[in-house]
Amino acid sequence: MVSLKTQIAGFSFDNCLMNAAGVACMTVEELEAVRQSSAGTFITKTATLTPRQGNPEPRYHDVPLGSINSMGLPNQGIDYYLDYLLTLQESHPQRAFFLSLVGMSPDETHMLLKKVQNSGFNGITELNLSCPNVPGKPQIAYDFETTERILSEAFAYFDKPLGIKLPPYFDIVHFDQAAEVFNRHPLKFVNCVNSIGNGMYIEDESVVIRPKNGFGGIGGQYIKPTTLANVHAFYQRLDPSIQIIGTGGVYSGRDALEHILCGASMVQIGTALHQQGVGIFERVSLELKAIMAQKGYEKLEDFKGKLKYLA
Ligand code: SIN
Repeated sequence: MVSLKTQIAGFSFDNCLMNAAGVACMTVEELEAVRQSSAGTFITKTATLTPRQGNPEPRYHDVPLGSINSMGLPNQGIDYYLDYLLTLQESHPQRAFFLSLVGMSPDETHMLLKKVQNSGFNGITELNLSCPNVPGKPQIAYDFETTERILSEAFAYFDKPLGIKLPPYFDIVHFDQAAEVFNRHPLKFVNCVNSIGNGMYIEDESVVIRPKNGFGGIGGQYIKPTTLANVHAFYQRLDPSIQIIGTGGVYSGRDALEHILCGASMVQIGTALHQQGVGIFERVSLELKAIMAQKGYEKLEDFKGKLKYLA
């Protein structure tokens, strides 16, 4: 029997596929659709302390090989997602879910994390250190000093399962430097990667999204090679207690298999989920299981991280 079962932070999931934060997760209705699909779990839209409208529309555009977005962290505020998760804990105590959050400043991030710490939430928290779309706010994880400071301060009081969502890195030295920072902290996972920040797509003679005069995060097929490199680079460098979640360019079972070969323990679907809806989880699961069966793999551990190199 081929199984897609996996574990993150000691929690078990029947399926290693789930949504990426930002897609199908803004409202309880969207989250319920993911929960009731074949996905192993869901993650909420990155929450801030108070609700945000986000950037002006149009702020998302499907393009031939993926998507471009500059949403600007629209969300319902932390209380909305926490309330829903606490309700779910009562009704579905056997399942674990992910809560994504980040503040508009380090102080706000700590207020959010303290709120989670002091709540009854017993799932997994993902700190988003990589949103490229809030004007004037850089992607935090490109600044290793700030990242180190936030993590040191957070782990002084936060003792629930915590991971971080990373932007893509593009240089081997940056993989080394980032891994050195992450290895100092009791992180449960890193999630590679958020969109490739500040790309541009042009139709006729115009950009296609309004915010930032067209600069936006790129997702979808464009980013799979970058994603796979990041998943594998951190799989090679991080302490085995820090797991990898792979996000980026997953449309098929084959794509998911490549993430797992590179070392991912969980695989998130973003752009393709936005384009195809929650039915994608069933299709990608079936495709992944079929490839695993063909190769004689029964479980993810049979091939996780076992990427082959040329001699
Ligand atoms: C956004 O809301 O701008 C996208 C979220 C992200 O890239 O972290």
